[in-house]
Amino acid sequence: MTTLLLIAAAYLLGSLSFAVIVSRAMGLPDPRSFGSGNPGATNVLRTGRKAAAALTLLGDALKGWVAVVLARALAPQLGLAEEVVLLCALAVFIGHLFPVFFRFQGGKGVATALGVLVGLDPWLGLACLATWLAMAGVFRISSLAALTAAVLAPLYSGLLTGWGNPTVAVLVIALLLVYRHKSNLVKLATGQEARIGKRT
Ligand code: G3P
Repeated sequence: MTTLLLIAAAYLLGSLSFAVIVSRAMGLPDPRSFGSGNPGATNVLRTGRKAAAALTLLGDALKGWVAVVLARALAPQLGLAEEVVLLCALAVFIGHLFPVFFRFQGGKGVATALGVLVGLDPWLGLACLATWLAMAGVFRISSLAALTAAVLAPLYSGLLTGWGNPTVAVLVIALLLVYRHKSNLVKLATGQEARIGKRT
């Protein structure tokens, strides 16, 4: 029962879509109504408001990190199995993708995945962030950078933490993230993907 409550709490935390919350607070249009339609930092940046995009990124990443770190701190005190940390990692990520507070229309999970990965293993998070930054620096395309980091994340995880359950959780997160980038994959394949900060 306690395990389920913890997982539910992680899911609810993940359901806080900071792109929508920050945009509302700053009087910006709903990110689901323009650009890619994705409630995420990349799309918020298309308004030209860097602070709003940065806050979205921070909020979405922080919730992923908090869910993992809190679960790890609480699990031993509540007598729960270590695996509950991984289930909470998945729950906060799924909450971001399918938020109960926003009619299950969530984001693509990049920032939240980063927070989760840093929480699971800071070196894993850093490796993925470095991959994202390198790809974004060269190609200036957010989705391409995220997809590359996602594909490499399970490999990094395996090398850093071994090929056990944590890497399985990272693989599930990576697969869901790639799945959520379906429309981006089509745009990338047809050369129509927008560059960072550009509307089209
Ligand atoms: O963070 C999401 C990014 O990878 C793609 O966003 O708005 O270009 O679909 P967007």
